[in-house]
Amino acid sequence: MFAKLCIFFLIAITTMVVGVPLEESTKNGTLISKRTTAPVCKDHNYSELVNAWCATKSSMTVICANEDLPGTFTSDTIQCNGAEVCVDYFLTENNAQAQCASLYMKWDNKDGLISCSGTSLYGNGKTFDISVGVTTYDVDGNPIQVDQIAIYLNNQEIATTSNLHNVSTILQDYEDGVFESCFAFRGTARVTGYFAAFGATA
Ligand SMILES: *[C@@H]1O[C@H](CO)[C@@H](O)[C@H](O)[C@H]1NC(C)=O
Ligand SMILES: *[C@@H]1O[C@H](CO)[C@@H](O)[C@H](O)[C@H]1NC(C)=O
Ligand SMILES: *[C@@H]1O[C@H](CO)[C@@H](O)[C@H](O)[C@H]1NC(C)=O
Repeated sequence: MFAKLCIFFLIAITTMVVGVPLEESTKNGTLISKRTTAPVCKDHNYSELVNAWCATKSSMTVICANEDLPGTFTSDTIQCNGAEVCVDYFLTENNAQAQCASLYMKWDNKDGLISCSGTSLYGNGKTFDISVGVTTYDVDGNPIQVDQIAIYLNNQEIATTSNLHNVSTILQDYEDGVFESCFAFRGTARVTGYFAAFGATA
């Protein structure tokens, strides 16, 4: 039902394409732009990055471990630069991470219950592993839970979550294809979704 509604909706908004610049996005076989802020562990006593998530639209929380004292962790907040937006994603199947992305698709729910992004095409003739993710934010830039989020590749749903503010999946041996994303939100708040793609180590 959701997928059908989304596809219907996409037909109406295909003019709002926010393409990710292909040359920029696939440099050196990675979708991570040079200007992207990655999670880092600044305290040299807690130098091992465990995971990260978006605290706000412009910052991420990082969890860092002490390699010499197993089970000891610390957390820190990393600010995104300038116009970057934090997007949650899975680096590997069970490893939740976040990045401040400078290349992304952005859309909001001003058109109603179900809102979809434009479409974005990645591909440079090579195959590589990528991770795609979406995080939804309210007008204050705080993550906001929505009823459903889905990511589509060539009109096929490849990931979906319910009652969360994020969704992500890893695509192994990805070559090319068109991505789009939709979220459903029954509330009255203005919600903005951000989709980004990252190099993965699947
Ligand atoms: C990409 O490759 C070029 C040439 O090999 C190199 O100069 C550049 O630093 C690389 N960029 C990244 C982000 O690794
Ligand atoms: C790291 O640990 C060393 C030795 O335990 C200590 O002297 C130092 O102050 C610590 N550094 C930080 C940044 O906490
Ligand atoms: C998304 O949010 C949930 C709940 O806050 C969290 O457990 C998960 O690791 C996050 N990341 C991804 C990529 O889904």
